[in-house]
Amino acid sequence: MADKTLEQRIAETQDRFDRRLLEAGDLEALEAVRIAFLARKGAIGGLFAELGSIAPEERAAVGQALNRLKTDATERLDARRRELGRAPADAAPTDQDITLPGIHHPVGHPHLLTIVQQQIEEIFLNMGFDVAVGPEMETEYHNFEALNIPADHPAREDWDTFYVGEDLLLRPHTSPVQIRVMERSEPPVRVICPGRCYRRDAQDATHSPVFFQVELLWVEEGLSLANLRYVIDRFVEAFFGPGYETRLSGDFFPFTEPSVQLHMRGPGETRWLEIGGAGMVDPAVLAGVGYDPETITGFAFGFGIERMAMLKYGISDIRTFLTNDLRFVRQFRD
Ligand code: FA5
Repeated sequence: MADKTLEQRIAETQDRFDRRLLEAGDLEALEAVRIAFLARKGAIGGLFAELGSIAPEERAAVGQALNRLKTDATERLDARRRELGRAPADAAPTDQDITLPGIHHPVGHPHLLTIVQQQIEEIFLNMGFDVAVGPEMETEYHNFEALNIPADHPAREDWDTFYVGEDLLLRPHTSPVQIRVMERSEPPVRVICPGRCYRRDAQDATHSPVFFQVELLWVEEGLSLANLRYVIDRFVEAFFGPGYETRLSGDFFPFTEPSVQLHMRGPGETRWLEIGGAGMVDPAVLAGVGYDPETITGFAFGFGIERMAMLKYGISDIRTFLTNDLRFVRQFRD
């Protein structure tokens, strides 16, 4: 050591510091470098202690070199610390301005249709229903036959269906999920089945070839249309709030008897919007899944989720849901 001048050792310390800084891959390693070089008893501190032992005429120049080494090492250590993520809480003050606004990282959020579906699920979960799902690609049996719609039945035309194979179709409604749930359960059954549906429908303000429905099914002894009405009213109240009117009128579905249709309108609106169909589960459907229609009764509905969202949030065109216009999407956060 003694045969090397202080200047040489400053240069060597600089080299060693450079190497160690380069190797420090995380904040912990960086802190070790700081302690090794910049702490009071570190390598650079040790060199300062030796300043007193060199000739006075050299002291100023060597002192300056040592100061440069210390300043340079401190700055580069800070810069590397910023790179590695964050400064330790006990770090010496740096040139960071902590009052500057942070960098905004936009975070996504669910689409309105997902939000609405979650709202619906929550309401029915609170009412004691389970949530069930079924396949979007269905068999003719579950989509039609089991729902009392045989092959030659004219009602098949009410569901203008996309076929993807001999016996396979994109479900045009969520009613086949009723069948799948009943096939695997014994009464009482209380479920809702939200999901995507597909129809060869021409697009307009209230029709889309891809849309969502929520099916409801309650099967038990002794149910009547009055129970169906009650469930609909409680749901409407919870989902829409006050001021929304409902209108049930007669309808026909092969899988319910009697069948009704629900129309609704919002506060101050004059036009009624069709929300969906409902009715008492047809005894033939109950028998088809092995229930005794003499004792078991049930009711069901299938409501359009977009239609309900349109009514609740004042959306006039169903196509808006699919345009991916972020100005639309961003209006609706949880
Ligand atoms: C049905 O699909 C029956 N499965 C409903 C049902 C279930 C009746 C259980 C009885 C018991 P419908 O075809 O009317 O019924 O459709 C129900 C609702 O789905 C419509 O009122 C509407 O809100 C929505 N809907 C139907 N087609 C479309 C479409 N192309 N675009 C958007 N929503 C639609």
